[in-house]
Amino acid sequence: MSEKNLQEIKVIREPPLAWVILSRPEKLNAISLRMLDELSSVLEELSTDKDIRVVLLKGNPEGRSFSAGVDISTFINLKPLDALYVSTRLQSVVNMLETFPKPVIAVIDGYALGGGFELALGCDFRIASNRAELGLPEIKLGLIPGGGGTQRLPRIVGEAKAKELIMFGERLKSEDALRIGLVNWITQPEKLDEEARKIAQRLAEAPPIALRTIKDVIRLTRHGPIEEGLAFEATSFASLFTTKDSVEGISAFLSKRKPNFTGE
Ligand code: COA
Repeated sequence: MSEKNLQEIKVIREPPLAWVILSRPEKLNAISLRMLDELSSVLEELSTDKDIRVVLLKGNPEGRSFSAGVDISTFINLKPLDALYVSTRLQSVVNMLETFPKPVIAVIDGYALGGGFELALGCDFRIASNRAELGLPEIKLGLIPGGGGTQRLPRIVGEAKAKELIMFGERLKSEDALRIGLVNWITQPEKLDEEARKIAQRLAEAPPIALRTIKDVIRLTRHGPIEEGLAFEATSFASLFTTKDSVEGISAFLSKRKPNFTGE
């Protein structure tokens, strides 16, 4: 296990898992441009780290939040061109999470608002404590979400529910978020990390290339016609027969033993 402290991000390597921690506790882990730069360089590093198979993204618990969103002080007298930069920079980091070659789990305690919520939407899974509150309150600032919220939220919860959350800007309790499929699991706050770790461990034992392929196939085909999606699925399925992990998975099944997937 090792810990690396950047200015606004902490990384705890616990192979095969890595915890990436948003850390500006005095501002409820609000997102600055520096935090986005640090997050993007940390993700870049972890994407090729052979010992890491799953990433967990959470907030520094001292900040009582996953993240309360983009730092609102950044918005004071912000010119439209600079706002465009903030939005596209945040979007690019959420895209990195979405296209990350390994599973990423958002571990949400306390507030996940605005840009913080949008970071969580870029993750493959969301686990929340039963005291978490999630939402897109930008409307209360006279704004709209700028980190992909208008695009990803409707795809996860449907258009009507997404409009409700974005237009009213009210915070959703985790039980309601679970009910609409926005979070995958909820648990008690004191069990959150342990439960997240268990889920991550299960993913870490799965064949990495197949996991990556699932992410790619679902993401790259979701807007196209089903015929194209099915063809891409079939060629991706076929390509997995070049992996040692498929040989291992099939022979482990036939010899009734647990497979050991190496990611080759
Ligand atoms: N940007 C900058 N600072 C933020 C912040 C944000 N998004 N969210 C919280 N903070 C700061 C507060 O200004 C406060 O700083 P201060 O102690 O220097 O005054 C500190 O974090 C603690 O927040 P506070 O509001 O006192 O905590 P609370 O428990 O009363 O309320 C929230 C928590 C999350 C409900 C409230 O902070 C909030 O509404 N934040 C803004 C959320 C938002 O609109 N996010 C989307 C931005 S686009």
